[in-house]
Amino acid sequence: MYQEPLPKEYIDLPQEEIDRRIEAAKAKLGKRLVILGHHYQRDEIIRHADFRGDSYKLAKNAAAVPDAEFIVFCGVHFMAESADILTPASQKVILPNLAAGCSMADMANLFQVRNAWKQIHEIIGDSQRVVPVTYINSAANLKAFVGEHGGTVCTSTNAPTAVAWALEQGDKVFFFPDQHLGRNTGVKLGYDPNSQMILWDPFKPLGGNTPETIQSAKFILWKGHCSVHKRFTVEQIEKARREHPAVKVLVHPECELEVIKAADLNGSTEFILTKITESEPGSIWAVGTEINLVSRLAKEQPDKTIFCLDPEICPCSTMYRIHPSFLLWTLENLVEGTVVNHIVVPDKIRDDALVALQRMLTVCA
Ligand code: 13P
Ligand code: SF4
Repeated sequence: MYQEPLPKEYIDLPQEEIDRRIEAAKAKLGKRLVILGHHYQRDEIIRHADFRGDSYKLAKNAAAVPDAEFIVFCGVHFMAESADILTPASQKVILPNLAAGCSMADMANLFQVRNAWKQIHEIIGDSQRVVPVTYINSAANLKAFVGEHGGTVCTSTNAPTAVAWALEQGDKVFFFPDQHLGRNTGVKLGYDPNSQMILWDPFKPLGGNTPETIQSAKFILWKGHCSVHKRFTVEQIEKARREHPAVKVLVHPECELEVIKAADLNGSTEFILTKITESEPGSIWAVGTEINLVSRLAKEQPDKTIFCLDPEICPCSTMYRIHPSFLLWTLENLVEGTVVNHIVVPDKIRDDALVALQRMLTVCA
């Protein structure tokens, strides 16, 4: 989405002034305001957040602050949309920079998903029931599609529970947009990635498959990925183990299956934070996820050795668009009575998307 440039007076402010003015605006807004911060946000944002969390925790936080008139979501667009869907219209959800999207979420759109659904059903007819599952990293209209077709949303925290539920409802799962989370989840549930899963490429007829493979597949996985998590490799894990024989390798489930297999543990950003926080002083962790979270963990827990698997810096460039100046601009406008960057999901999308999100919250509670 397009973001207007910040007014001149917000450019090049010293960090101390930004911090001071953000705190002053927060004090003025009091209980009317809640700031949510995803774990991938930079420290300069996280220090002002009332709640930090992964996508699942923040969706629940958003739904659990009924007194807040303004929910300022320091994360990416799909997270703010989910918060808007889960809250009444009287609560306004705000994304400080509208250009903070998610490149993975952009890899599937409603036109493509409807087209795939139609092709799949032309092959299987009424012989099998397909249950759609969308990762929360997706546009609101895809969540609505899933709600309308009896499926659910999932996050990296609850994907195994959500997918197991989907397989109890039907014969196949159509999982989008992250092929890796879909595949890794299927493997966790005991399915074979080679014989029971196919990849759906939206740019090819039948997604690049044959009628026979579509008939027999248990999982139809959308060809999407996260470019941050794609950077982690088995070679990096082998190197970490050579250099630190006592290392524990902990990666996010958006990584490729081979990386998941080579790691010791995998889980959501909140899982990563909890596992490392609960570990013994002196423990060594090689982490395969976004750099802001890894660097913060290393800074906050100096009694442990915590480093990123990727020696090059690997930030999520869209999360990074929530610059502290945007947060300040948002809050000072609220103080003046102006709501900027209000995220509103249209009613006709919202109702079905809410069904899918609530199904997740119920099934995975
Ligand atoms: P979490 O739900 O684990 O925070 O993941 C969100 C995300 O976008 C990871 O890339
Ligand atoms: Fe999207 Fe990847 Fe950034 Fe997560 S890390 S918000 S999946 S681009």
